[in-house]
Amino acid sequence: MNVLDLVGNTPLLELKKISSTTAQGESMAGVSIYAKGEFCNPSGSVKDRAAKAMLLDGIETGKLKPGKTILDASSGNTGIAYAMLGAALGYPVVIYLPSNASRERKTILKCYHAHIVETDPMESSDGAFLAARAEAEAHPDKYFFPNQYNNDANWKAHFNSTGIEIWEQTGHKVTHFITGMGTSGTFMGTSRRLKEYNPNIQVIAVQPDSPFHGIEGTKHMGTTIQPGFYDERFPDRIVEVSTEGAYAMARRLAREEGIFAGISSGANVLAALNLAKTVPAGSLIVTIICDSGSRYLSDPFWDEHPTGDAADNSTGRNR
Ligand SMILES: Cc1ncc(COP(=O)(O)O)c(C=O)c1O
Repeated sequence: MNVLDLVGNTPLLELKKISSTTAQGESMAGVSIYAKGEFCNPSGSVKDRAAKAMLLDGIETGKLKPGKTILDASSGNTGIAYAMLGAALGYPVVIYLPSNASRERKTILKCYHAHIVETDPMESSDGAFLAARAEAEAHPDKYFFPNQYNNDANWKAHFNSTGIEIWEQTGHKVTHFITGMGTSGTFMGTSRRLKEYNPNIQVIAVQPDSPFHGIEGTKHMGTTIQPGFYDERFPDRIVEVSTEGAYAMARRLAREEGIFAGISSGANVLAALNLAKTVPAGSLIVTIICDSGSRYLSDPFWDEHPTGDAADNSTGRNR
């Protein structure tokens, strides 16, 4: 066994306290919210699934072979996953990331011995992607460029694992799947599998409510370069979440559920809670805890006092 074998098969956690009442004290009898504990993956995030699938696909197709260096752009978690897997498989790793990525992420990358190239924070993940692609195209013999935004092995990783796990772990009872999007691999792959099992399952995508946001790892799709495999007609709905709301829910998850999760997980659970208020009794909502709060320790939002109305900080729009 090696670290690659530890990827996936994460626990499905019931968010009992958070789903039992809204911030206003309204009861949501009969609606359950569950979350996949993706922080249990060996490098600590949901991105282990996609990174493993993309690297193994590279090896199978002969594009990744001894002597090559793995190079890609990442807001942090995919880079950390590549760095762990590259170390285990024996490949050097170069990661392009915006310089404002959290200090913890950069430190972890260095611990796995990855080389970091910092890009302009004003250009966010798009700037890192364009710079990484330019370098990979300039030296095709040197680099293996998985290109996580345009690699079908990314969403297929979730089609072949996350979606199946959710179906089995809920005893086929899942009625709604809701999660945020970076590359959209988690959303697209998991949703496609769930719809295949039961087309009535509602799949809802979450995005930040503004192009300028602090929900690390996620994209405001309308104003950024769209991932090649993202199909905007696929979600049954897209809902928006504010950064403040995501922060507040990350605090609540730690304090009320004992789940120390990152900001995008706060966004996901907040969106799930808002969804819970609108669905019939008996509904079973599943979302994703993408990574651990320990990746954001230097972020000051942990110290703030909860506003008490986290559930109101998200708006939904039907599509
Ligand atoms: C913290 C975090 N949350 C959510 C996501 C979104 O995952 P995906 O790229 O599968 O859409 C990412 C992606 O990097 C992430 O780092």
